[in-house]
Amino acid sequence: MSVENSARTVAELDDYRKEALASLAKIEDERALEAWYRSELAPSGQATAWRRKVGLLSREERPAFGKAVNSVAAELEQAFSAKREQIKLEALVQRMRAESVDVTLPSRAHAVGGYHPVTLMLREIYDIFKLMGFQVFESPHVELDLYNFQLLNIPPDHPARDMQDTFWISDDVLLRTHTSPGQIRAMQALCPGPVRVILPGLCYRFEEITARSEIQFHQVEGLAVGPTIRMSDLKGILLLYAKLAFGEHQAVRLRGSYFPFTEPSVEVDIKCTICAGKGCRVCKYTGWLEMLGAGLVHPAVLRNGGYDPAKVRGFAFGMGVERQILLRHEINDIRYFFQNDLRFLKQFA
Ligand code: PHE
Repeated sequence: MSVENSARTVAELDDYRKEALASLAKIEDERALEAWYRSELAPSGQATAWRRKVGLLSREERPAFGKAVNSVAAELEQAFSAKREQIKLEALVQRMRAESVDVTLPSRAHAVGGYHPVTLMLREIYDIFKLMGFQVFESPHVELDLYNFQLLNIPPDHPARDMQDTFWISDDVLLRTHTSPGQIRAMQALCPGPVRVILPGLCYRFEEITARSEIQFHQVEGLAVGPTIRMSDLKGILLLYAKLAFGEHQAVRLRGSYFPFTEPSVEVDIKCTICAGKGCRVCKYTGWLEMLGAGLVHPAVLRNGGYDPAKVRGFAFGMGVERQILLRHEINDIRYFFQNDLRFLKQFA
């Protein structure tokens, strides 16, 4: 090749260098970058073609031109790497922008649950009876006829059963109609020791659901058994309960009543919580509200619990829980407790 030719070739190499760099500079994405690499630096690309041209030159010209070709190839190689890094970085920046999270935004408020009014009332009842030395004793909701009725002195066909129809699991298994079967279970568990327990929980009755009656409701039973238990103990603890739960001004009134499992039996009233005894619609102008049933444990029931009625006596009471909440807050519908309506429940939590 002549000197002239070789000078032209050197100039062409420089043109090529400029063009290749210019087209690289315009590239913005990885795809185009790859295509550029294939056409310039890959074995089948322009750089290889330039290296081949070296062989066509005269022996003297080869070293200098070969060097020039290598240096252009190295420059392109370097520019390519720099471009590749730049594109990667830009892609990363773009992704970070797209996925960005504003950590300064206030978090969404989580709704915090609260206690059901019945739970709150039960806890209050536990606290008051704890002061008087009573322990909480749990007893099954699914009961035997034997415990719910027979051992409580209510034999099959006893008229007292008419007032407590329930849901039957089988001929002798039922949903308890009151917490009183727990009396027998507590006595059997604690005999021959003294008993001072409260038995809380749901009870069930097959009733029409109305503002005043539900098929489920909570009771708290109380039971004390010991050698010196008397009616005045019952009255004393119920008076203290009334004062602590409904206010210092409270009083209790005992009226004779009948339950098959207590003898004597009483109905216990407290002063009307609405009018404080003056007389109003809620207490039907009597000044008193019926609170619970109670009495001294019937000797047959003591015996069924394992005790000798000649040696020990007991008192028992059973109070409704929803009713006390209704009275306290002048609510007139028991169904609210079982409807899970947050507008109602939130007012207590
Ligand atoms: N178990 C009775 C009822 O549900 C209440 C009661 C309990 C009465 C204990 C006397 C003694 O009506």
